[in-house]
Amino acid sequence: MSSFNPVDVSHRFVEALVSEGDRCVDATVGNGYDTVFLAKRVGVTGHVLGVDIQVEAVTQAKDRLAANTLGDRVSLRVSGHEDLDVHLEALGWQSIRLAMFNLGYLPGSDKSIVTSSENTIRALAICERFLDRTGAISLIAYRGHAGGMEEYEAVSRWFAQLPLDEFFVLRYERWTRTGGVAPVFFWAQKRS
Ligand SMILES: C[S@@+](CC[C@H](N)C(=O)[O-])C[C@H]1O[C@@H](n2cnc3c(N)ncnc32)[C@H](O)[C@@H]1O
Repeated sequence: MSSFNPVDVSHRFVEALVSEGDRCVDATVGNGYDTVFLAKRVGVTGHVLGVDIQVEAVTQAKDRLAANTLGDRVSLRVSGHEDLDVHLEALGWQSIRLAMFNLGYLPGSDKSIVTSSENTIRALAICERFLDRTGAISLIAYRGHAGGMEEYEAVSRWFAQLPLDEFFVLRYERWTRTGGVAPVFFWAQKRS
C-alpha cells in the first residue's frame, strides 16, 4: 500500500490523469524510477520524453527501463530541462499530458549537481506552454539542501502566479510541530 509521502501522493495524482496513449515528460530523470512509472502508465501507444543533465543518471534510467522492457516507450536525452522545448519540437509533439519534476540531487551521487531556481522556472514555463487541454505539472521540491529553500520559494511563487480560473493549483506538505523542512508536492492542472 502506498503512503502519504509526497512521492507516493504525486504518483496517485499522475495515475488518475495519465492513461494509455498519452505523451508525458520526466523533467528530472535521476535514477529512472519516475520514468519507469510513467512508461507503464502511457502503455505501448504512449511515449515519455526524459531529460537529465547527468550522463550517469540517463545511463541508469536506460538500464532500468530495459530491465522492465520499457525502453521503446521512452526517449532519453542528456540535457537540461531548460531546453525541453528543443526536444519536444524535435519529436514533433504539439502537446503533453503531464510533466513531472522531482527536484534536488541524484540520490547516492554528487550532491553539488542539483536543480536550480532559474532552470526549473524556465522548464516550468515551457511545460505550461505545451500542456494539453486538461494537462498537468507535478513537482516535488526539497528544502533541506544548499539552495533548496531558494528554489522552493521560486517554485512556490511560480505556482502562485498561475491564473486560478485556468488552473487547479494544489500544494501538499506534511505538517510538522518543529517547523521542519519536509518536501512539498505541487500540482497544477489545466481546467478544460
Ligand atoms: C531527485 S533527482 C530525480 C529523481 C528521479 N525522478 C527518480 O525517479 O529517480 C533530481 C535529478 O535532477 C537532475 N537535474 C539537475 N539539474 C537539471 C536540469 N537542469 N535539467 C534536468 N535535470 C536536472 C539531477 O542530475 C538529478 O538526477
